Amino acid sequence: MAEPRPVLEMTGIVKEFPGVRALSGVDFRLFPGEIHALMGENGAGKSTMIKVLTGVYSLDGGTITLDGKSVRFASPLQAQQAGINTVYQEVNLCPNLSVAENIFIGREPTRFGRIQWKRMRKEAAELVDRLGLDIDVTAPLSAYPLAVQQLVAIVRSVSTGDGDGEGQGTKVLVLDEPTSSLDRDEVLELFRLMRRLKDDGVAILFVSHFLDQIYEICDRMTVLRNGTLVGEHMVSDLDQVGLIQLMIGKELDKLEELHEHQLRADVGETLLHAEGLGRTGGIAPFDLEIKKGEVVGLAGLLGSGRTELARLLFGADQPDSGKVTVDDKQVPMNAPNDAIGAGVAFCSENRKAEGLVPDLTVRENIILALQAARGWTRPIPAAQRDELVAKYIKALDIRPANPEARVGQLSGGNQQKVLLARWLITQPKLLILDEPTRGIDIGAKAEIQKLVVSLSEDGMSVLYIAAELEEVLRLSHTIGVLRDRKLVARLTNGPEITPSRILETIASGEHQ
Ligand SMILES: Nc1ncnc2c1ncn2[C@@H]1O[C@H](COP(=O)(O)OP(=O)(O)OP(=O)(O)O)[C@@H](O)[C@H]1O
Ligand SMILES: [Mg+2]
Repeated sequence: MAEPRPVLEMTGIVKEFPGVRALSGVDFRLFPGEIHALMGENGAGKSTMIKVLTGVYSLDGGTITLDGKSVRFASPLQAQQAGINTVYQEVNLCPNLSVAENIFIGREPTRFGRIQWKRMRKEAAELVDRLGLDIDVTAPLSAYPLAVQQLVAIVRSVSTGDGDGEGQGTKVLVLDEPTSSLDRDEVLELFRLMRRLKDDGVAILFVSHFLDQIYEICDRMTVLRNGTLVGEHMVSDLDQVGLIQLMIGKELDKLEELHEHQLRADVGETLLHAEGLGRTGGIAPFDLEIKKGEVVGLAGLLGSGRTELARLLFGADQPDSGKVTVDDKQVPMNAPNDAIGAGVAFCSENRKAEGLVPDLTVRENIILALQAARGWTRPIPAAQRDELVAKYIKALDIRPANPEARVGQLSGGNQQKVLLARWLITQPKLLILDEPTRGIDIGAKAEIQKLVVSLSEDGMSVLYIAAELEEVLRLSHTIGVLRDRKLVARLTNGPEITPSRILETIASGEHQ
């Protein structure tokens, strides 16, 4: 049987940035009714490929053919009008507007030049309902966690050109890491939606660092390495080991090492002690002890209160009961500065909203928290600063390894590493990591996990939050289990603690 004609064909794509050749002659084709993964390590060029397709960046070479016609889009709006809809890696919506407004922003239904609010809310509610999502469209978007905001972005994207006469309907849907903040149920929800669109003949370009998801949902994949094409394969013809080797261009030793890594069993005396700490609407009062050099992992479903617990410990939210001591001294919990002063650092899951300044350089971004802790009137001597920055760029393998690069120009995973470097450089006593490996490729993920182990061996305490139970289990001495915004159990890690044992604890809410 002859293969059908691709709906989209990109040939010899070249894109250069000052000093970086992000894409050197990449070919890519996408067929109607397929889900196609674009794979590659952090910085391989996936997002750039998407951005030259959708008119965010101009092309430096190559051709794009859509439905057999040569095209070139000057803006994402033009691409959208031609039927290419995109949801980006970072949620790009307005948190203070309602969900309905976010879905219809820029194309609100109007009558005699005035926005029809009622109709907009009704249509938004129908849309959300049809997709089986339980979201109140009149609530401000900010009322929902990042994961749900991401779903709203997807709803917005698939609804454009949906029956209102303008636009072409969706021919190509581009999803750049839509699942990195979703829990399993939400991922299934998204996959259900993707399959339905696929059955309608939509071609879907999907980027995700979760290999299991690629194998679950995709038909075909294209692999990039350092801005070049290394291969196009049917998913059924390439196993995970083969894929990873294509992505990193070498054997898989890094990951093996990590599996063998044993956590040191003995930890030091108490570093932090929280007693009856709680916040109405956030998390029920809990007790928690963290020892020096201990890694405490938090397990629980999305929305179970993991982030809320971390935010309370950091003073990002104010507790309305309880107290916290660090090294036996009570910490006033009025603001993050109190916690920072006591040696607590918080590396958040939301790199865009909480912290990175895209227009500043890698060096400036890394140095920010340390400088703030010293006070702005005491600048860090340039030589010392440059040495520190170079050390962490190397330790975390930040690419490009150029302290003068602007953070906004780094790939998503490398931005995450800059945020981590910022907090590590302050040498905190307790480092809180909220989903530190989100959006990070498999090689860098292993690096960060190894780093956590070595930090703990050097005596730093770590509170580690991750969606993947295996990841939590691999790193933690102790596991705090959360359910319905309560800390329900505290398990000492050992051979009998398995992912299914933790899931049982989450499900039953009891420590067996
Ligand atoms: N606006 C820009 N200015 C300069 N360099 C850029 C810019 N955007 C991307 N780059 C560079 O191009 C290369 C490819 O980046 P890209 O964002 O496409 O990677 P990616 O494959 O999406 O990675 P990730 O998995 O981390 O999201 C990187 O070296 C990056 O630093
Ligand atoms: Mg990217």
